[in-house]
Amino acid sequence: MDGNGRWAHGKGLERLNGHERGAEAVRDCVKGCRELGVEYLTLYAFSTENWKRPKAEVMGLMKLLERFISKELPELNAQGVRLQTIGRTSDLPESTRAALSGAIESTAANTGLTLVLALSYSSRVEIVDAVQSLAREVQAGRLNPAAIDEAAIARHLYTRDYPDPELLIRTSGEMRLSNFLLWQLSYTEFYITDTLWPDFRKDDLYEAVRAFGKRQRRFGGI
Ligand code: FPP
Repeated sequence: MDGNGRWAHGKGLERLNGHERGAEAVRDCVKGCRELGVEYLTLYAFSTENWKRPKAEVMGLMKLLERFISKELPELNAQGVRLQTIGRTSDLPESTRAALSGAIESTAANTGLTLVLALSYSSRVEIVDAVQSLAREVQAGRLNPAAIDEAAIARHLYTRDYPDPELLIRTSGEMRLSNFLLWQLSYTEFYITDTLWPDFRKDDLYEAVRAFGKRQRRFGGI
């Protein structure tokens, strides 16, 4: 969800105003995904690298997330959205963790759309965590190293319960992955748009899905 800062700067506003407007884009895209029948939507909301930002911006983002959850929870439930997170959420402030765990519990039985928020997320850290977890199983004698295959690694990633993404949308024209789902995106289709995230709406999502529909996916075959 890139471009919040640039959107705000372009309007002479504070960066946090861009994030606030970005939360409106989240609301609209969740509705769009429900309409399209998308089963999983993963939003890269906060990376481990984002902790390097000024404290006021970091805290502003955490409070925004808390407000978003408390305001949107009834609507998420009404739309059958199940909320989940990936990342080292233990790094988040206590009040943010409490808001998240309340919403995760409240939406746990919903079956419409799984909305996964990547928070304090780093794909390399995720892979490190998976390797450590596999090594512990080997050390305990529960896993033969020769049995470590792609499926075993996938089972140890934070995303173990979700399918690999079919489509990656990156806003604001940036052409990099920024430490996002490096393993999982191996055969994902990329869609890059110059639209800044705060301006991204359902129509832009439909456009991305239309473009995805025209792709020929060969997964390395012919
Ligand atoms: C990247 O844009 C965006 C973020 C680091 C934060 C994303 C958070 C939101 C959209 C807030 C709401 C989230 C939820 C889940 C309710 P940037 O700040 O790096 O933009 P720039 O590259 O233009 O500076």
